[in-house]
Amino acid sequence: MSEPAGAKPTRFLRDYRAPAWRIDDVELVFDLDAAATIVQARLSLRQDDAAAPLELDAEALELLELRIDGRVLGADEFSLAADRLVVPGARGPLVLESRVRIAPERNTALQGLYLSGTREQGFLLTQCEAEGFRRITPFLDRSDVLARYRVTLRADRARYPVLLANGNADGAGELGDGRHWARFVDPHPKPSYLFALVAGRLESIERTFVTAEGRRVRLVIHAEADAIGRCGWAMQCLEQAMRWDEERFGRCYDLDAFHVVATHDFTMGAMENKGLNIFNAKYLLADPASATDDDHRHVLAVVGHEYFHNWSGNRVTCRDWFQLCLKEGLTVYREQEFESDLASRTLRRIEDVRLLWRAQFSEDAGPLAHPVRPDRYSEINNFYTATVYEKGAEIVRMLGVVLGRDGFRRGLDLYFARHDGHAATIEDFLAALGDANGVDLSPWLAWYEQAGTPELRASGRHDARRRCYELTLEQHTAPTPGQPHKRALPIPVAIALFDAAGRALPLRLDGEDADTAAHERVLLLDRDAATFRFADIDEAPTPSLLRGFSAPVRLVQDTPPPALAALARHDSDGFNRWFAGDALVRRLFAQALAGSEPDAALFAAWTACVGSALDDPGVDPALAAEMLTIADATSLADGLADIDPEAVHQARARIETGLAVALASKLVRRHAALGDLDDLAVDPATQARRRLRNACLAALCRADAAHAPLARAQYARARNLTDRLAALGALLGMRDTEADAALADFAERHAGDALVLDKWFSLQATEADPRACERVAALLVHPAFRWSNPNNVYALPGAFALRNPRAFHRVDGDGYRLVADAILRLDALTPQVAARLATAFGAWRRYEPLRRALMRRELERMLGRERLSPDLADILGRSLAGT
Ligand code: PHE
Ligand code: ZN
Repeated sequence: MSEPAGAKPTRFLRDYRAPAWRIDDVELVFDLDAAATIVQARLSLRQDDAAAPLELDAEALELLELRIDGRVLGADEFSLAADRLVVPGARGPLVLESRVRIAPERNTALQGLYLSGTREQGFLLTQCEAEGFRRITPFLDRSDVLARYRVTLRADRARYPVLLANGNADGAGELGDGRHWARFVDPHPKPSYLFALVAGRLESIERTFVTAEGRRVRLVIHAEADAIGRCGWAMQCLEQAMRWDEERFGRCYDLDAFHVVATHDFTMGAMENKGLNIFNAKYLLADPASATDDDHRHVLAVVGHEYFHNWSGNRVTCRDWFQLCLKEGLTVYREQEFESDLASRTLRRIEDVRLLWRAQFSEDAGPLAHPVRPDRYSEINNFYTATVYEKGAEIVRMLGVVLGRDGFRRGLDLYFARHDGHAATIEDFLAALGDANGVDLSPWLAWYEQAGTPELRASGRHDARRRCYELTLEQHTAPTPGQPHKRALPIPVAIALFDAAGRALPLRLDGEDADTAAHERVLLLDRDAATFRFADIDEAPTPSLLRGFSAPVRLVQDTPPPALAALARHDSDGFNRWFAGDALVRRLFAQALAGSEPDAALFAAWTACVGSALDDPGVDPALAAEMLTIADATSLADGLADIDPEAVHQARARIETGLAVALASKLVRRHAALGDLDDLAVDPATQARRRLRNACLAALCRADAAHAPLARAQYARARNLTDRLAALGALLGMRDTEADAALADFAERHAGDALVLDKWFSLQATEADPRACERVAALLVHPAFRWSNPNNVYALPGAFALRNPRAFHRVDGDGYRLVADAILRLDALTPQVAARLATAFGAWRRYEPLRRALMRRELERMLGRERLSPDLADILGRSLAGT
């Protein structure tokens, strides 16, 4: 496949070559200014390959001077093209000095050095992953070049009072002309993508943390004055993360200070720069008045995530960007475990699986499908995907399941010990985990190399005469782009068998000792199909399969509905209770979509399960809330072809409303019983109750407009954002006469609070009503919406495109046009964000012919535009490949 116009050339994993030149030491001096910053670099370079010319990455730089070993180079001694600085005659070792000028305030791509906020009030910061450092200084900007950095920042003291860079502080002072300086030394060799600096007017809060190794560490969180009061929760989360990583994985922090900075202008969630994490404010600021319970948990997770990267990513980094999942899959897994240990394991697992289904399974089913470790890419920014992150974490989780908790820990210890201070590969990771446990994990490489969602078929048969239960498991993975034939994968299937009374049976496979029988075990399916025979099973059992979602597969089981209903009531694994309920929902959904009346007995069985979870005070309220919340439209459409999103919506709504009507009296009761909560508490137990109360409210409002007063009263009374937003959503969803007044009140109440207004935008953008399209169009000119701010974009056109299938896929094509216009506009500003939005069109081939044609037309219209960014050209080109 060749690249479309505007795209970068494709790079291949198989072409990897070790760097011909290396950099041992880096000295940087910045004269910081929003309009024009001067960067002086002094690089000590070594030549490993005598035949290779010196070629440095350099983008959007104005080169002022270049010296080698102190001598200024003449214009004929080097060449500077769009992205490359070449010095043909250079021979190492040598010292290269460069001086360049850059313009942070004009940098709307938000990669390299840029300005957050306004020219007068804002602050300067950097974003270097994946390839942003080359926009700061000419460099070998690749992750397998690890160097020691010494960085001096100079700037006007009044305008930029706070100066920060990676590592330990190494002096500061005045320059006499109103400017000041600060120096930082980072003792840990690092790749350039982990470089960071921050300069500006920032406030801070500070604590001291003593590591298990006895190191005293300053923890400092910095934010602008209006936000610093909302950093306390993040500080608490950071301390918990540091302690948890010591206790669970034996990992301690390794510098004298750990800085965290919040910005409103960021394309992603947050960034793990060594000792100087930079966060999208959305994942750092939280208090009950301006952040929901979910936001509080996201802050916990992301603060943990970035901190955990200090080992999984920074101390051991990636050899190249094909190995991105090495750091991201492992770190997402660590983050999941952190939140699971601190808050609710069942809730986190359900949310992760929902995300996997919605974002990753659908990615895997379209033209943008790629392996967790891609073997080629044109623009690496486009590979920060659900596949690399979420499926990458699932693979690590499976390894954790097969190795066991202690075995996994041993493996990870060896991985960190072996590769500390180096750049590693997925092969290295599997080798370390395998060597520490005396097993060969090389078959697991297939999970990293093969795209597509495996289908796992399970069928059971009880043999009364031989008193055994036979479970047959088969796997199949459909072709994906460039991979017509798939290999069998090692699939761990965690299983329990329940008898009619709901008791877990001892699981002994034919031929095994009786005394080893456990009540839950993991079967490994490592070929196309296998049959497992359990002995001493007197009656036909109910199998609970894939417990805890032990593998990222699409499970097709022949379990009859009554057995699923039994699991949804009694399974001892909270996740599988929910999972069994979801399996029932999917059967009802299939009937409704086919146009038939859903099977009454099946419907009754399902609603009874949800009802019993609602009534049972012993059930985790968070689990009950999740059981009340059925899968989203995208997940329900998984595996379908010729999708009609309007029909999907109607079928789903019928089931969702049916549930609410059937349970109305129980909902009223439970809602009232949960009335008395501490509105300002955010501990997991209170959050869980609030979650259930708001799920009850939403369901009641769906069931009957007569419940509107409940929502109105909650809106008026709400003392925290969770309750206020839930009430507003309920009013909007039922098109209550007071919905518009409440929307206006909300905007006024939170005017000036960008993060809260983003939620207000999103709520309207995701309303499952075709008219959301007009609403979004009107909001795009709201004074609080700025095209240059990624959070605004994700909250409004982004939420519409990616989380409102009914309106985005409007049959008149207006939704598509709106989003395509937004993408083209954004591409000139923030290409990374434009490309992300464009993935909304990726699944176009899976829709019914009319929508398919409309989506294709928009894709072609966008591709026909001149001067597309490489980011957008890559997504459009791959989406249309083969047409
Ligand atoms: N590496 C970041 C993470 O923790 C994500 C990121 C990628 C942020 C690229 C900015 C740019 O997942
Ligand atoms: Zn990460």
